[in-house]
Amino acid sequence: MKTIFPVVSALTLVAVTAAQGNRTVWDGVYTADQATRGEKLYATHCTRCHGDNALGSEGPALTGPLFAANWEGVTLNDLHDRIRQTMPADNPSSLPRQEVSDIIAYLLRLGKMPAGTTELAGDAGVLAQIKFVSNRPSTGTP
Ligand code: HEC
Repeated sequence: MKTIFPVVSALTLVAVTAAQGNRTVWDGVYTADQATRGEKLYATHCTRCHGDNALGSEGPALTGPLFAANWEGVTLNDLHDRIRQTMPADNPSSLPRQEVSDIIAYLLRLGKMPAGTTELAGDAGVLAQIKFVSNRPSTGTP
């Protein structure tokens, strides 16, 4: 356990500095319509490498345990940057910020995170306040 603590504290520090807020993807951070838009964008730009339902093919799965492990506790702004700056791998930086957020909305829907009443913005300040957490945080009520 001892060896794990410094790593965890460092990660926590990074997450806190980047996040400046405590909302998570379980707080209804996208809308159902947006996820539907994102699904179409995903089909056009991502399916050929990441497969149907983001289950992976040439590229890795964008849903499920491996993806969750890579992004656990990271802000949506970091995920957004990663997608916008490096994806589609054969044509990076080609998607507008809002379209990347729409695709993230679709990925959240695949992860069974609930939709809400406000769309996920493309704005970095908003995205930086929302953390990716793979399991619903416990609220004390079932
Ligand atoms: C030409 C193939 C290709 C296309 C198209 C493509 N990707 Fe990727 N993607 C990859 C490969 C290969 C990797 C793994 C290597 C790497 O990280 O670059 C990857 C990695 C990723 C990762 C990191 C996964 C992780 O677990 O950390 C994300 C997120 C991602 N892609 C999202 C997207 C999205 C969203 C789209 C559509 C806008 C897209 N990709 C389109 C090939 C592609």
